[in-house]
Amino acid sequence: MEHYKIALLEGDGIGPEVIAEGVKALNAAGKKFGIEFEYEKALIGGCAYDKTGTPLPDETVSLAKSADAVFLGAVGDWKYDTLPPEVRPEKALLGIRKALNLFANLRPSIVYEELVSSSPLKPELVRGVDIMIIRELTGDVYFGEPKGISTVNGKKTGYNNMVYSEDEVERIAHVAFQTAMKRQKRLCSVDKANVLDVSRLWREVICDVSKQYPEVELSHMYVDNAAMQIIRAPKQFDTIVTGNIFGDILSDEASMLPGSLGMLPSASLSGTNTGMYEPIHGSAPDLKGKDVVNPIATILSASMMLKYSFGNDAAAKSIEDAVKAVLRAGYRTPDIKADGTAVIGTKQMGTLIAEAILA
Ligand code: IPM
Ligand code: MG
Repeated sequence: MEHYKIALLEGDGIGPEVIAEGVKALNAAGKKFGIEFEYEKALIGGCAYDKTGTPLPDETVSLAKSADAVFLGAVGDWKYDTLPPEVRPEKALLGIRKALNLFANLRPSIVYEELVSSSPLKPELVRGVDIMIIRELTGDVYFGEPKGISTVNGKKTGYNNMVYSEDEVERIAHVAFQTAMKRQKRLCSVDKANVLDVSRLWREVICDVSKQYPEVELSHMYVDNAAMQIIRAPKQFDTIVTGNIFGDILSDEASMLPGSLGMLPSASLSGTNTGMYEPIHGSAPDLKGKDVVNPIATILSASMMLKYSFGNDAAAKSIEDAVKAVLRAGYRTPDIKADGTAVIGTKQMGTLIAEAILA
């Protein structure tokens, strides 16, 4: 029997609640396809800071490195907003991405037929949308030096540096072109090359790498235009590749195509190290313990784990199909409720999906 060790980093807020439902789905798929999962938990984020004085303890990093995959909930809480930047929960998320060298973040935005009416956009605009956003995850203003707040010419001045080296762009470009090859073979690279030098290099490298993928139709778009086009005509996009900060913003925007941040999963990959899987939403501390949040983003992240870390497309598909079946049967968490649907809680949604996997 296949056997994998999963590091469970539940994190803060609703993190533990959504991870619990993701585990139900993994176990159900494991049962169906003869895969055994062993789980080990470690602290990350505010809960880790409270217990150990650091949001990313060394043990958490070693567990993540030794596991076959990392399953992460969410980090952060307003009560940590006044902490110094070095120990804020968000720092742990950036730290673990960097420690595992997870430079490629895959964020699909798919509008299931069942959810067309949950989108704030017109049905004819979103029906059939299937976009894969590939966000570079270990560079850009998130990690650029110099950074900080200091006094320049007698004035307090804050700065972060947007920086990409050619090898960083090259490796994300390969992931993007290879992903596009398995999809509709259309890749749109998003940058701000009309203004930023870093974007001019980005575009140059993307164009160079494209020569190795002659079958992929490459286009370029400025980020402001891309933000507009994703709402105006989302179906024009197949695969998008972009830098860390533009990808952060565009992926939240793209989550409104299916109508809820609670629907979007993600995979963070390096190609060689352990992959990490997490919903794109945050820790929603105001909703903690209320059994109201949508676990589907986390459950679909489990599906991505089966596909990208364990190469089991059939098991991955069984989770996706189960999500669709439960939505088709009319069950909804409050964030995606629509006329004529039955509103249920986080746990029941997870249980119904697990049952549908095994049905
Ligand atoms: C995300 C989040 C994180 C990011 C935050 C919580 C640090 O917004 O994963 O999109 O900016 O990358
Ligand atoms: Mg974000």
